[in-house]
Amino acid sequence: MTPASQVDTAFAAAFGCPLTVRAEAPGRVNLIGEHIDYNGGPVLPFAIPQRVLAAASADDSGHVAVHSAALDRSVRFPVDITAPTAPSSWENYVQGMVHELRGLGVALRGAKLWLGGDLRPGCGLSSSAALCMAAGYALAELAGVEVSPLQMARAGQAAEHQFAGTPCGIMDQYVSCFGRADHALLIDCNRLTHDYVPFNADGVCVLAIPSSVKHALSDGAYEQRVRSCRAALDVIARRHAGVKSLHEVTCAMLESCRAELDDEVHRRARHVVTEVQRVTQAVEALGAGDFPRLGALLWQTQDSLRDDYAVSCPEIDELIAALRTRDDVMGARMIGGGFGGVVIALVRTEHAAAVEDHVRRRYYEPHGFSEEIFQVVPSAGASATRIA
Ligand code: GLA
Repeated sequence: MTPASQVDTAFAAAFGCPLTVRAEAPGRVNLIGEHIDYNGGPVLPFAIPQRVLAAASADDSGHVAVHSAALDRSVRFPVDITAPTAPSSWENYVQGMVHELRGLGVALRGAKLWLGGDLRPGCGLSSSAALCMAAGYALAELAGVEVSPLQMARAGQAAEHQFAGTPCGIMDQYVSCFGRADHALLIDCNRLTHDYVPFNADGVCVLAIPSSVKHALSDGAYEQRVRSCRAALDVIARRHAGVKSLHEVTCAMLESCRAELDDEVHRRARHVVTEVQRVTQAVEALGAGDFPRLGALLWQTQDSLRDDYAVSCPEIDELIAALRTRDDVMGARMIGGGFGGVVIALVRTEHAAAVEDHVRRRYYEPHGFSEEIFQVVPSAGASATRIA
C-alpha cells in the first residue's frame, strides 16, 4: 500500500467515511542559529522527510473530531473553541489551530481530522509545529480558504503560545511551511522573509541522533531564556539608542554594558550575539562547500549552548563527548529548545554507518536506550490536496 492509500484506509477505519482532503507537514532540523528566532535574528533550518500526515472531511456537526494515529487517541471539541480543554495535551495544538484559523476566515461547520505519519510526537524534530501545520493545511483546504504559508506559520506560533503555553519563536512553523528539497532556509526572523540556501552535500550527510531524553524542566527554562534575553535587551537599548532587538547587538555593545548586566543575563546575551555571527559564517561555509568549516561552527554552537545559554544536560554532554572523539565527525550539536532532544552530526556519508555504530555502543547501549538514528536531507514543506 502507498502511504496515501494507508491514510485513506486509516481515515475510513477511524471515522467510517471517506476523506476529502489530504495534507502533510514536515519536521525540521536546525543547522545553526539556536535560540535566535525569538531574538529576531537569522536561523538556518531545513525541513526533513519525516512528517505529520493529515486527512479530513467536512460535516455539519459543529464539532471537530480528531484521531491521532500515533497516540491512538480521539478527541472532539466545538469548532468555536476559545481556550484549551486539557492542560499539556496534544489536542491543544489542534484546538489552537482551529481557533487561529477561524480568525483568518476559515469558518468550519464541523470536521473529522485524522493525524498520523512518521514524525513521532515529542521526538525533538518539531513534531508539534508539524502537527499544527498539517492540521492547518488540511482544515483550510477543507473550508476552501486560501491561507498563505506565512499566515499559517504565524497561526501555528500563536496556537502554541495561547493553547500550549509555549512562548516559542517562529522557526519551526516557518520552515515546515516553506521547506524546499536540497535547500536550507536562511530565515530572517525579524522581517519574516527567507532565502533558500542550496545544500549541495555530495558525500556529506546530516545524522539526526535522538538523545532519548527530555527533561521536564525544559518548558519553564525556555521561558526563562526568553525573559533573560528581554532583560539584556532592555539594558543594552538604554545605552545604545536604536537597538530594537537582541540580534542587532554587537560584541562591543554587549561588553560596553557588562557592568550593568547580571552575569547570567550577560552570558545568555553573549550566546545570542556570537550565534548570530556563526549563522553568517555558516552560510558562507555552505556557499563555499566548506563542510569542515560548517562542522567547526556546529561544535562552537554546542559549547555556547552548554556554557553561555545553559540548555544542555548531562546526557547531551555525554553524547557530544562520544562524537568528539571521532575524526570523521566534522561537527555536532544539540538542536531545538534544549535539555535533551536531538543531536545533529555532520559526517562524510561513507563514515555514517561507523558513526551510528559508535553512538550505539558508546551512548545507547550503556544507558539501555533504543533509538533510531536517521540521515536527514532537506525536503519539501507543507501542502494539501483535495481528493473529492
Ligand atoms: C524550540 C522553539 C523554536 C526555537 C528553538 C530554539 O524548537 O519552538 O521556536 O526557539 O526551540 O532555537
